[in-house]
Amino acid sequence: MATDRVISASASPVEEQQNWALRPQKLDEYIGQRDLIERVKIAIVAARDRGDPLEHVLLHGPPGLGKTSLAHVLAKEMGGQISITSGPALARATDLVSALTRLQHGDILFIDEIHRLPIAVEEFIYSAMEDFRIDVTLDQGMAARTVQVKCKPFTLIGATTRAGLLSSPLRTRFGIVHHLQYYAQVELEAILDRSGRLLGLEAMDANCLRTLATRSRGTPRIANRLLRRVRDYAQVKHKGAMTGPAVDGALKLEGVDALGLDELDRTFLKVIATTYRGGPVGLETIAATMNEDAGTLEDVVEPYLLQIGFLARTRRGRALTAKACEHLGLPTTLVPQDAGGLFEG
Ligand SMILES: Nc1ncnc2c1ncn2[C@@H]1O[C@H](COP(=O)(O)OP(=O)(O)OP(=O)(O)O)[C@@H](O)[C@H]1O
Ligand SMILES: [Mg+2]
Repeated sequence: MATDRVISASASPVEEQQNWALRPQKLDEYIGQRDLIERVKIAIVAARDRGDPLEHVLLHGPPGLGKTSLAHVLAKEMGGQISITSGPALARATDLVSALTRLQHGDILFIDEIHRLPIAVEEFIYSAMEDFRIDVTLDQGMAARTVQVKCKPFTLIGATTRAGLLSSPLRTRFGIVHHLQYYAQVELEAILDRSGRLLGLEAMDANCLRTLATRSRGTPRIANRLLRRVRDYAQVKHKGAMTGPAVDGALKLEGVDALGLDELDRTFLKVIATTYRGGPVGLETIAATMNEDAGTLEDVVEPYLLQIGFLARTRRGRALTAKACEHLGLPTTLVPQDAGGLFEG
């Protein structure tokens, strides 16, 4: 399964626990995403001055880039508590009522996967966000009555990997909407260095940090996971020495290549190359061939391949690029030639 792979950007519950210690606690510890941090810093100072809660924040972007971490940091900076739920967990309006009524002034309600909020609940969210109250109808028919439930002014932080699936009324109710970017090489090196220290590991030299950062696909969660694999490998095979051979050995064992691509990425690219002659081919078709879920491929495989220019999204489907062919050692004749007018705007 896609979530089992070492470079999968999504986290298992056990891993969430291990990550806990590595999570940045304060804004100063939050590495990278400079534009976003600049924006929230201003919003925090302004809100604190006025004694208001922070404006509602919507964070979107690929998994593992630090959305949940930022929500925790914001709660801490605002001196409030954070209460965590997710779109699918809020099945009925009453679920929302219990979440809202627990909040104190200035607390944060974090809704993960907010694109999966049921439509019936989404309507209640609107008035909760704007007026800090919701009107719930109890009973049905003749006995039906509306009860107004008030809550304390709070901050909603929504996180999603699929901003496109969010309705525009919901999206426009957020004061700060930000797309998280993949992290730069130096930022990942800084994250790895910090995580190594928090885990009590021997400091790695610049070369090792660089190798690990290049193979982390711009994603802190993957960087931390690779670091833990190297730690284990070093402990078992190299007496705990976090050196070049340990890094190379661990990464080789995990099947992660020089660009951070793993078996799933390579299979994805090879299916397009061999079965569909380089594309264009629809995502659903690729997913069916690979026996994988199309949504998973779209969320965890495609974004990075698009980012590094290995994949082109065209109106008629996905196509390989010359760069991808070179990396995989395939003939570049597989790249679709009739690209004129083919690519999405
Ligand atoms: N800016 C950062 N600085 C340092 N470490 C970070 C940063 N962002 C993320 N991390 C690390 O990466 C891990 C994953 O981050 P997080 O859980 O916040 O991602 P996410 O965007 O919520 O992912 P998902 O979409 O899967 O919920 C964290 O445990 C943390 O250790
Ligand atoms: Mg998260």
